[in-house]
Amino acid sequence: MNIIDVEGLKYKYPDTDKLALNDVSFKVEKGEFIGLIGRNTAGKSSLCFALSGLVPHFFKGAYGGKVLVDGMEIKQHEIGEIAAKVGLVFENPFSQMTGSKYSVYEEIAFGLENMGIERKEMIARIDESLELLAIKEMKDQNPFDLSGGQMQRVAIASVIAMRPDVLILDEPTSQLDPQGSAEVFRVVENLTKEGMTIIMAEHKMEKISQYADSVLLLDDGELIDYDTPENVFSRDDLINHGIAAPMVTSVAKAMGMKKSDTGKYPVTLSEISREMGDQR
Ligand SMILES: Nc1ncnc2c1ncn2[C@@H]1O[C@H](COP(=O)(O)OP(=O)(O)O)[C@@H](O)[C@H]1O
Ligand SMILES: [Mg+2]
Repeated sequence: MNIIDVEGLKYKYPDTDKLALNDVSFKVEKGEFIGLIGRNTAGKSSLCFALSGLVPHFFKGAYGGKVLVDGMEIKQHEIGEIAAKVGLVFENPFSQMTGSKYSVYEEIAFGLENMGIERKEMIARIDESLELLAIKEMKDQNPFDLSGGQMQRVAIASVIAMRPDVLILDEPTSQLDPQGSAEVFRVVENLTKEGMTIIMAEHKMEKISQYADSVLLLDDGELIDYDTPENVFSRDDLINHGIAAPMVTSVAKAMGMKKSDTGKYPVTLSEISREMGDQR
């Protein structure tokens, strides 16, 4: 079943004359992990906003086409209602924090209170999120005393606690140091195992090739490709769209090493070592 169905989505911010999203169509099946890639200004954040309802409900402007999440048309519903289905984690964890809560625990509770979740259920959900994100020992700390990686995990926990069907992460590691990024990716790996549908905008292609079932490549608001990591990263024109393939793929390309089964370039280290094993 398709949990996301985007048809001919066009969007232009107010007072601009360029489409941020230009006739974008794609479908996502429940439980899939989609890597969203593209150069700066390609339209990644705008697409994240369109999936979570910030476009067109917060960012106004001209809007055409349809975005359906679990059959619900985003344009026709209010942000609060959409939030129960779609969770969005921003690039900068600071902007996600309410700024009014004095503990991690309260921070996570905030969204649930707004949803009117009853107390017992709320406690269960918060405990589960704390566990899942491995931030239990920080529950009484002030969110603003945490490191970037820890704060981003709190941001993800707050969203996860609302049990969205779809989790959208807009470059969640771009503001983090390598350790913080590793913390977030560990969590993302756990969430994929939980079977959550995830859309993640990310610049670290190694990570995308490791986690993503499909990669969606945007450039100048247009959908350039939507295919397996292998097929997208094997494209010869990748660099023209501002994307450098994962290191493994670049090396394989330079060596002309294609996979014997698919004729495409390998995208992960394990694929390369399998290929070398085959050739021996
Ligand atoms: N708040 C905004 N107001 C006007 N134009 C915007 C706004 N945010 C983004 N844009 C424009 O929309 C286009 C897509 O940007 P964005 O979705 O942020 O791309 P990405 O996340 O891939 O860097 C760009 O041309 C950008 O300048
Ligand atoms: Mg962006």
